[in-house]
Amino acid sequence: MHLSTKGLWEYPSQIGFKIPDVGEPQYYKDSECRILDGRVIAKNLVAQCHRLKEHHPLVIPKLVAILVGDHAPSKIYVGRKMKAFEEAGFASEVIEIPEKNVSLKGLNETIEKLNQDPLVHGILVQLPLPDFLDTHEVIHKIHPSKDVDGFLDGYLAQLALGRFPPIIPCTALGVGILLQCYGISMPSQHVVVIGRSRHVGRPCAWMALNQDATLTLAHSKTQDLPNLLKTADVIISATGNPWFIQPEFLKSGAVGIDVGISQDTDKKIKGDFHPDCQKKLRGLSPVPGGVGPLTVAMLCVNTAILAWK
Ligand code: GUN
Repeated sequence: MHLSTKGLWEYPSQIGFKIPDVGEPQYYKDSECRILDGRVIAKNLVAQCHRLKEHHPLVIPKLVAILVGDHAPSKIYVGRKMKAFEEAGFASEVIEIPEKNVSLKGLNETIEKLNQDPLVHGILVQLPLPDFLDTHEVIHKIHPSKDVDGFLDGYLAQLALGRFPPIIPCTALGVGILLQCYGISMPSQHVVVIGRSRHVGRPCAWMALNQDATLTLAHSKTQDLPNLLKTADVIISATGNPWFIQPEFLKSGAVGIDVGISQDTDKKIKGDFHPDCQKKLRGLSPVPGGVGPLTVAMLCVNTAILAWK
């Protein structure tokens, strides 16, 4: 049976976004494991943004990203977001605030100005923030109508209570669409999400549950994860623990969605799944090139929803 993503894709479809076609299956070398390529979907969605501008000629979607401090990976991620917006033909701006200059009051004033600016449709505070700032307090200064990340209590609560809100956090939306594009259905499947963060693990878990998966949400205190994973049909892993999922943990024919990305002590960029997992799985998203580009593309989609709905 094929999954309907009516709920998940309801708001993007209302403004004209189509679910991309991923073409002929591609496999990892010497294996029957399909490459769940996120780049091809992301590229298609960014191109759709460009095309859809013709249908909404009066409003150019605009994102403002606030980047506080000197966190090197955050600078790279924000740079990727800006590049995607340029490719989409959307407007974007980065407000960089050095850590020594930042105060809660100043940050609140910056956000309030953006809340009032009719030309700004989405506001993003890049996380993590420096430790002395309360993330929950800061992001809740963003007006809900400009919550492009879907990180505020309102949208998350809707997702947790079984609905698909207008804005779904980019990673969860990206994972859901990745599974849809590659024909991996969720109803009745045992989906194990590893990681319970507010912004990634939980929204992915709720997204799967809302699509009738049988859900297990595992985390750092879960006991005997290898035995649990043996029963999983789909594993969505977001730990940032390089190559910690080994092939012997897996059921043959399961699907792996790798949301982890980390630089190991050998300086290599690695996901959560060891490459040998390809011998057991029927599909695996690569790192890099899987969920990461989709997260960026979904930010364009979410900004378009806020601007055009
Ligand atoms: N830091 C890492 N990923 C994200 C994201 O999707 N949104 C924000 N605001 N910060 C992040």
